[in-house]
Amino acid sequence: MVLRAVRRGSAEDRDDSRDSHGGQSRIKAARFPARKTLEEFDFAFQASLRRETVLHLGQLDFLAGKENIVLLGPPGTGKTHLAIALGIRACLAGHRVAFKTATEWVALLTDAQRQGRLDTELDRLQRVPLLIVDEVGYIPFDPQAANLMFMLVSRRYERASLIVTSNKPFSAWGEIFGDEVTAAAMIDRLVHHAEILALKGDSYRLKDRDLARPPVEN
Ligand SMILES: Nc1ncnc2c1ncn2[C@@H]1O[C@H](COP(=O)(O)OP(=O)(O)O)[C@@H](O)[C@H]1O
Ligand SMILES: [Mg+2]
Repeated sequence: MVLRAVRRGSAEDRDDSRDSHGGQSRIKAARFPARKTLEEFDFAFQASLRRETVLHLGQLDFLAGKENIVLLGPPGTGKTHLAIALGIRACLAGHRVAFKTATEWVALLTDAQRQGRLDTELDRLQRVPLLIVDEVGYIPFDPQAANLMFMLVSRRYERASLIVTSNKPFSAWGEIFGDEVTAAAMIDRLVHHAEILALKGDSYRLKDRDLARPPVEN
């Protein structure tokens, strides 16, 4: 075990020395749905966020501290953009990242459980310093899915970072997870060491449209 850890460490060091090449391969491996950067983010449009707070997160101290980031807000306010941008920063700084929607994480874990290797999978994921869980709340979880999500969060608690995005406030998570107790236990672990960013306002997707009020997505 110790030897394996040492060898893995040295492989990562070599990766770092390959600078941008290693970064690009980590970005590919992370499977981001798009490429977004912090530089492209328009802080004037998203006035509910302090630029300094986000730029500080971009320094990635949260990864070293095994802390989480939770991005909450209505559709189109930039949650996925910021999650990707921070993930790409992490890749370029030499960290492995994996991006999936909450539904996709649950599918992955369900599959592992069916094959009797849930524990192995959670162990493997724990060695990835940053997992991004996008779109918690778009689709409600059945009890099995809720339990797998809880396991993912509690396994990583104080061990490795998560970035989670949701269009629903924490007060609605009981409904999403179909169980107030599971939701409360998960939120508790998720936010104990975390930066919570609440995004507000209209959808950036509709900003150039001449619409008085965007229709409610989802
Ligand atoms: N403040 C912003 N500055 C620049 N682009 C933004 C901003 N907010 C959102 N966008 C862009 O608008 C689109 C929707 O944002 P996204 O992050 O997917 O929203 P959400 O995940 O909150 O629904 C994306 O193309 C994103 O890059
Ligand atoms: Mg999104």
